[in-house]
Amino acid sequence: MLPAHHLPPALLRDAADRFGTPLYVYSAAELDAALERVRGAFGDARVYYAMKANPNLTLLRRLHAAGVGFECVSPGEIARAEHAGAAGEQLIVNGPAKTDAEYAAGARLGATFILDRAEEVGLLPPQSRALVRVNPALDVSTHDHLATGAAGSKFGVTLAQAPAVLEALRAGGHTALGLHVHIGSAIRDARDFTAAFGRLTDLRGQTGPLDVLDAGGGWGLGADLHGIAREARRAADAFGAQLWVEPGRYLVAQAGTLLTRVVGIKRTGRNFCLVDAGMTELLRPMLYAAQHPVTPLWEGAETGEWDLAGPACESGDLLGRNVALPAPERGHLLAIGEAGAYGAAMSSNYLTRARPAEVLWTGQDWQVIRQRETPQDIWAAEV
Ligand SMILES: Cc1ncc(COP(=O)(O)O)c(C=O)c1O
Repeated sequence: MLPAHHLPPALLRDAADRFGTPLYVYSAAELDAALERVRGAFGDARVYYAMKANPNLTLLRRLHAAGVGFECVSPGEIARAEHAGAAGEQLIVNGPAKTDAEYAAGARLGATFILDRAEEVGLLPPQSRALVRVNPALDVSTHDHLATGAAGSKFGVTLAQAPAVLEALRAGGHTALGLHVHIGSAIRDARDFTAAFGRLTDLRGQTGPLDVLDAGGGWGLGADLHGIAREARRAADAFGAQLWVEPGRYLVAQAGTLLTRVVGIKRTGRNFCLVDAGMTELLRPMLYAAQHPVTPLWEGAETGEWDLAGPACESGDLLGRNVALPAPERGHLLAIGEAGAYGAAMSSNYLTRARPAEVLWTGQDWQVIRQRETPQDIWAAEV
């Protein structure tokens, strides 16, 4: 059975027949519902969508129309945000290694910068608004690659450095709005957030009151959002600050599903169900050992456990392991859930594989929000 927030199987089959596979399908209603859940938990906090999770312009425009700002970490993301209509207070420019182009674009648009190290004070455009990213030096419960607030990670300034960096910002003629913290991604244990916000709050005696506390994102699906929000609000209140948040995954993950067709099977002692999507379409299982819910869109008695193997020449190209399936046959469809975040966004042209089309169910019809690529699109920039 598909969870309620997913689109019904008949609709998914219709999309696969009309647009081909592999295919990313999104539900506009689920995107709206996720935003409502965030607003329900975080009240009047300002929401900046971390567009790295899914930068599709149609989704950006929908969020922009709903009053959401954007967190951008590359020149391309800043350009997308501008193209989607955002400017000024609706924009955050972040990143551990910003280039001159990013400072210039951020300044032109009036964005708020997140300072990742003290040296940036001298690199910021004159009279910038900035937050200081603090690394709370915490081990959190997520994949190592996804932990950004551990002592050895490349992000942010140390707790000890933070008050002096705020002071240096002011002395440099900038507006030091406050502090920022983001401890990682796909974190389900609310206690990790409590610990991080607690360490920031401990700085209150040295920083005095602040205008803004940006509590970042990183909320895993199924995390206690109200608990995280309560602790974030408590930390913001300790500084007398307005609360900002930067969810990526939480806003878009459940709105997206990857549809893939069975190409064949192979039994070698393990059962392989070969499918037409793999690491080039959805990298997360390979990169983070991420587990996505898999739903077969055909009926039948279960026939044991199958590894879902993609088409790439890499042994790790598996979208799922030990998935219980009815007997798979060439042409059957599988729905890979919770794929709206870091799915299409991390897809690649490795093996000159054309990236999938993306379609949005608006409630009435499918809207193509990204055309399927062709091989010619892939080599168009080559000389
Ligand atoms: C600074 C910052 N904010 C927000 C996010 C969004 O994280 P998530 O998609 O886990 O909510 C990220 C993700 O890497 C990030 O680095």
